[in-house]
Amino acid sequence: MKKPGLAQIDPAAAPEPHGSEPSGVDVRVARDVCSTDRAAAGPDAQPGGIGEITAHLLCGPGCECDENGVPLQTIAEQGPVLSVRGLSCSYGDHVAFQNVDLDVAKGQITALIGPSGCGKTSLLSCVNRLTDLIPGCRVAGRIDLGDLDVLSASLDTVALRRRVGMIFQKPNPFPLSIRRNLELPLREHGMKSKARRAETITRVLRDVGLWDEVRDRLDELATGLSGGQKQRLCIARALALEPEIILFDEPCSALDPISSGVVEDLIAGLRGKYTVVIVTHNLAQARRIADRVAFFWVRNGVGRLVEQGTAQQIFEQPGDELTRAYVAGMRG
Ligand SMILES: Nc1ncnc2c1ncn2[C@@H]1O[C@H](COP(=O)(O)OP(=O)(O)OP(=O)(O)O)[C@@H](O)[C@H]1O
Ligand SMILES: [Mg+2]
Repeated sequence: MKKPGLAQIDPAAAPEPHGSEPSGVDVRVARDVCSTDRAAAGPDAQPGGIGEITAHLLCGPGCECDENGVPLQTIAEQGPVLSVRGLSCSYGDHVAFQNVDLDVAKGQITALIGPSGCGKTSLLSCVNRLTDLIPGCRVAGRIDLGDLDVLSASLDTVALRRRVGMIFQKPNPFPLSIRRNLELPLREHGMKSKARRAETITRVLRDVGLWDEVRDRLDELATGLSGGQKQRLCIARALALEPEIILFDEPCSALDPISSGVVEDLIAGLRGKYTVVIVTHNLAQARRIADRVAFFWVRNGVGRLVEQGTAQQIFEQPGDELTRAYVAGMRG
């Protein structure tokens, strides 16, 4: 049987209830980070770096903060930093996913979960327009990143990818030195001062916990690092450009358990400072680090967003039977 092409997709004709938040729901999103005590953060605390967040000092009365010192408000109050509406993606005649509505809150970690082939990677690819590079791939619907219309034909994709960092399953450092891996994107994006580049390189390597491991071998090939170190270098490379949002596609799945734990802790530490979307098949990981979770499923060969909500809602009180079965690890 022929699969429907994108031209046949009519989001309005096939509405799927998938838990988009009604206004006023208490979905918490981060505002700017509150005051911090850098001295208390210890040697790793960099101005504006991740260590700074961990040393947050509690604000005064009336200020609501999460455990990282990030003040909170609701999506209804602030609006999502990334808004996906009626999004569909197809490869030739094959519809990867259809009619997805998703809100990603500023400063939070949103996990995308669901079985293989439900369109998680395709969705991330739409957000940084990697889909442009795939012949026959078509995307319909709307994606807004702040004030940016991501799917606009006139969009500068180089500028977009500065705002949207992407980390893949398999770490992919350039076959260059550790230093050049970080220097190259900074130069490409216009950081002319050598001193500023050196400062940024040190800061991001500290932020990912690599500085002490590589400070004496910055001019050695990055390809000689271990898998976990390579992944942390790739994260440092993304952080160097100070993206608004970082997309992680199964960032730990190619790593040994120890390295996986280190990278997971690193991602958890980005909360509040960066907005993170992470695809993971590791439900325990999603439960440990995600603030919000979106659950996808494949129906009739087409990926759908079944349900989204806080991690607690999805794991403890899912609204849909499919979600309940999936998070309980049921098969068949
Ligand atoms: N470049 C491509 N060309 C053709 N079809 C593709 C391409 N990329 C993905 N697809 C198809 O789109 C659907 C969604 O794939 P996608 O990789 O987005 O799923 P996924 O949820 O990330 O799966 P996994 O968990 O296995 O990584 C699948 O049916 C897949 O075969
Ligand atoms: Mg994938």
